[in-house]
Amino acid sequence: MTPAAFEVFATLLKSRSGLVIGPDKLYLLETRLAALLRAHNLVDLEALALALRGGNATLAAAVVEAMTTNETFFFRDDKPFAHFRGQVLPQLAASRPAGAGLRFWSAAASTGQEAYSLAMIVAESQALLGGRRVEIVGTDIAREPLARARAGLYTQFEVQRGVPMTALVKHFRKEPEGWRIAEPLRAMASFREWNLLADLRPLGQFDTIFCRNVLIYFDQPTKTRVLEAIAERLAPDGVLYLGGAETILGLTERLVAAPGGHGVYRRANAGAASSPSATAPLGAIASAMKVISASAAAATDSRPVSSLRSGAAGAS
Ligand SMILES: C[S@@+](CC[C@H](N)C(=O)[O-])C[C@H]1O[C@@H](n2cnc3c(N)ncnc32)[C@H](O)[C@@H]1O
Repeated sequence: MTPAAFEVFATLLKSRSGLVIGPDKLYLLETRLAALLRAHNLVDLEALALALRGGNATLAAAVVEAMTTNETFFFRDDKPFAHFRGQVLPQLAASRPAGAGLRFWSAAASTGQEAYSLAMIVAESQALLGGRRVEIVGTDIAREPLARARAGLYTQFEVQRGVPMTALVKHFRKEPEGWRIAEPLRAMASFREWNLLADLRPLGQFDTIFCRNVLIYFDQPTKTRVLEAIAERLAPDGVLYLGGAETILGLTERLVAAPGGHGVYRRANAGAASSPSATAPLGAIASAMKVISASAAAATDSRPVSSLRSGAAGAS
């Protein structure tokens, strides 16, 4: 491939999704885009680059999606989930008024395993949470993985990667095609197409954010920008989890390491307020209230908060 053609891909990916690729990643372009070339009868990457230069928006979106790495599994890395179950949930349950809802965000949700791992923990913590309304929002830039997340249907191999047998029996239903997440957990979770480079404010505020194994693909300025936008979405006493190879060090001072775990962070100015209602945008509170009443009206309605009903407002 000519350097000019390579530059077309590198520029597109960096601007649309934050993904940085150097010339050493040429093989990635070749392997990940092979199916796309076939589907569009394009002879090679040069031809694809030419079509992109011509402004083909459908192809551009397809290239961005094909280049995402969607690897994930249930209870990935264990420790963040143990920390969430053992420290964060009890602390939130103790500090929030009875009846106040809780919102959790899986910010690069892929096929949904992270969001549903949280849902399983929430379901198993009902005694602690005292019937509070919990909303789990999963977002991602890639449509196909999100469609799988919404379906909540996993293969034997996928559930074997991380789901304990007791949890499998409790939280999944066996179907001919695989294992389906049980309805109460699906009702807790909703999935939206949302680009982390877009305006994150319409998503509202969250008590816990999992943003794991996505910053690694970004350059330093993009990591800083995304981390600072995420910090703004975090409740003053909320917690952010990053992936094992990710850190805030040298990137932002708006977050600080939280005690009790590697890769766990809080807002740097967390002392300023102690409850989310002190700083949550009115829209987020109104949205949360709507979710509470909607859930009372239809316990199986898994649609997201009204602030998210703007469709693909955050989509690239
Ligand atoms: C490796 S997966 C991580 C999944 C899960 N968080 C985990 O740790 O197991 C990375 C996900 O980030 C998504 N992603 C990449 N760039 C993104 C962006 N700019 N905005 C939102 N999601 C993005 C990809 O589509 C992919 O599903």
